[in-house]
Amino acid sequence: MDLFSAIDTEPVQRRMDELAKELDRLNYEYYMNDRSLVSDEEFDGMMRELQDLERQYPELASPLSPTKRVGGEVNKIFRSVQHRFPMLSLGNTYSIAEIEDFEARTRKLLDGVPFTYTCELKYDGVAIGLTYRHGRLVQAVTRGNGTTGDDITTNAKTIPTIPLQLRGDYPDDFEARGEVVYPFDAFNAMNAQREADGDEPFANPRNAASGSLKLQDSAECAKRKLMFCMYFMMAPDGVVLPDTHFGRLEYARQMGFKVQPYIKECKDIEEIKDFIEYWDHARWELPFGIDGIVIKVNQTPLWDRLGLTAKSPRWAIAFKFKAERVSTLLESISYQVGRTGVITPVANLTPVWLGGTTVKRATLVNADFIAKMDICAGDHLFIEKGGEIIPKVVGVDMEKRQLGAMPIQYITRCPECGTPLVRVEGEAGHYCPNSDGCHPQIIGRLEHFVSRKAMNIDTLGPERLEMLYGAGLVRNVADLYDLKREQLVGLGTDATIQDKGADNLLAALEASKQVPFERVVFALGIRYVGEVGAKKLARYFKNIDALMAATEEELAQVEDVGEVTAKAVSEWFADTEHRAIVERLRAAGLQMNGQWAVVSGRLDGMTLVVSGTFQHFSRDEIKADIENHGGKVSGSISGKTSLLVAGEKMGPEKLKKAEKLGVKIISEEEYMEMVK
Ligand code: IVH
Repeated sequence: MDLFSAIDTEPVQRRMDELAKELDRLNYEYYMNDRSLVSDEEFDGMMRELQDLERQYPELASPLSPTKRVGGEVNKIFRSVQHRFPMLSLGNTYSIAEIEDFEARTRKLLDGVPFTYTCELKYDGVAIGLTYRHGRLVQAVTRGNGTTGDDITTNAKTIPTIPLQLRGDYPDDFEARGEVVYPFDAFNAMNAQREADGDEPFANPRNAASGSLKLQDSAECAKRKLMFCMYFMMAPDGVVLPDTHFGRLEYARQMGFKVQPYIKECKDIEEIKDFIEYWDHARWELPFGIDGIVIKVNQTPLWDRLGLTAKSPRWAIAFKFKAERVSTLLESISYQVGRTGVITPVANLTPVWLGGTTVKRATLVNADFIAKMDICAGDHLFIEKGGEIIPKVVGVDMEKRQLGAMPIQYITRCPECGTPLVRVEGEAGHYCPNSDGCHPQIIGRLEHFVSRKAMNIDTLGPERLEMLYGAGLVRNVADLYDLKREQLVGLGTDATIQDKGADNLLAALEASKQVPFERVVFALGIRYVGEVGAKKLARYFKNIDALMAATEEELAQVEDVGEVTAKAVSEWFADTEHRAIVERLRAAGLQMNGQWAVVSGRLDGMTLVVSGTFQHFSRDEIKADIENHGGKVSGSISGKTSLLVAGEKMGPEKLKKAEKLGVKIISEEEYMEMVK
């Protein structure tokens, strides 16, 4: 018998419900109770079975299915929505004296009514509000400006500590608020992966959490392993909630929310101070970041009596921890040479424990920074780690300065090749001009050229590049494409490269010849030309000849290319050796033309303006698409504008102007129809 026939879907539905229920239960036990009841394989097997069934029978899939945890839906846009209850912020202070004032003021206002406080952690993440109706999650919205925020429901569903379906007893309609945090372990693992992939690491868990919630691909958000810490609950009139904050959080826990256990009911200022003091030290043992303590009046009926100030409630206050700061000895300064020759001074410090890690080194940025901080040899420096994971030098510990200490003498010659350093007018950094003879610059450029976002020749790591350079086979990036099999086999101190290695390397070099033009531009390693800048330049000039011939003024016309970059690009191509490298790369067969050149001439002679956000394109994509069809894109509406392509959330000014000038307005769909 065909169980899954279209006529009788009941058994399918039953199996799907069964799987969903079991997966939900296992999720709950794992994330709320730290209990793993089945092996990962078993869990994944059930998840896959449910996913397969949902694919086969999409009409039977529940919007709250545990498969949503894995993500997969793409967020085209994050709709802006109004908060039902404004998301207020809290008054905050760094001073215990002000906490004492808050406590005394509250007591006075409450005039003899008995009450207590709750003290809890101030989670360092992103505030969101979750709306539940009839026990089901219906919407997740970021705080935004407190009045409106972005709808991030799809991504929120991938966070395992956000219940999709509540358990037991729950109010029929309410909003749960809390903070999405990025636990340190998951954050560090993700940053390590980013660095390995050649991506810029995130500065801190808070920014990373915020960025994760705005990812277009919810499957990617699922991989981030974010956590939701619930701290607040509110409901419309008529819906009854427990009458203490403590009780509400306990209630929330029973519904299936992750409520951190570190909450304490305090009866007076002494208990509040003890709680603050305890967490000022203990916070580094938590698996996620906090930046303070929140103190609330526990009895919720008193909240109305205390009321609000302009933007925050009078019944709560946040105590913020000062960024942790230590002083440690500056043992020496190293000077690093980057691939573009820029020198970065780095402080070598006596290792010191700070905010959960040992700090041994910190950047001193450039000569101006050292001068401004007035750093002398033998000084002790103050190091701080605030919200940032990277420690910063914030000043000199003057009490420890040695008598007669001398200011740091900045180097005048390159620490690697001895060439006198140059400092360009208007720029803070020094650099070594010996680009072709300075070892770290040569290797740095090669490393950049082969990196993932450039030519992506992953068989060539730093060691192999050193090997090729050491053997005199490769001095610049064009030399890579002259490598012969017989030169490679047997290379390395113990013949590291063998037949297969040589073949792989040559194949990878061959494959890199298909890398698109915009990445070739990036790979050249021109100062200030990052991935985005390279893309813009490539799209604007369309081929290497036009790019090479462009004047500084023409270069500066390109979106996101400033004068400094324009100058750097023009100087780079003015160098005959650079031109020779480009010619050799061209001869080797690298892409020197954009593939997108001209798709059609449907928009020939037309100037289009785009505004708002689109369903099928990012803004850059629709602009490129217009150009591909022969049209010109302009940033502002004028008498010359042929068409305005209006997306969602289009600027009202543009609309007004277009109407005034009688410019035809078309929708994204109409545009797509036009160029089809
Ligand atoms: S209560 C009306 N409790 O800190 C009061 N806020 O300005 C609602 N935060 O934007 C806030 N941990 O995102 C509360 N345990 C906690 C918190 C907390 C972090 C954030 C919240 C708010 C900001 C205070």
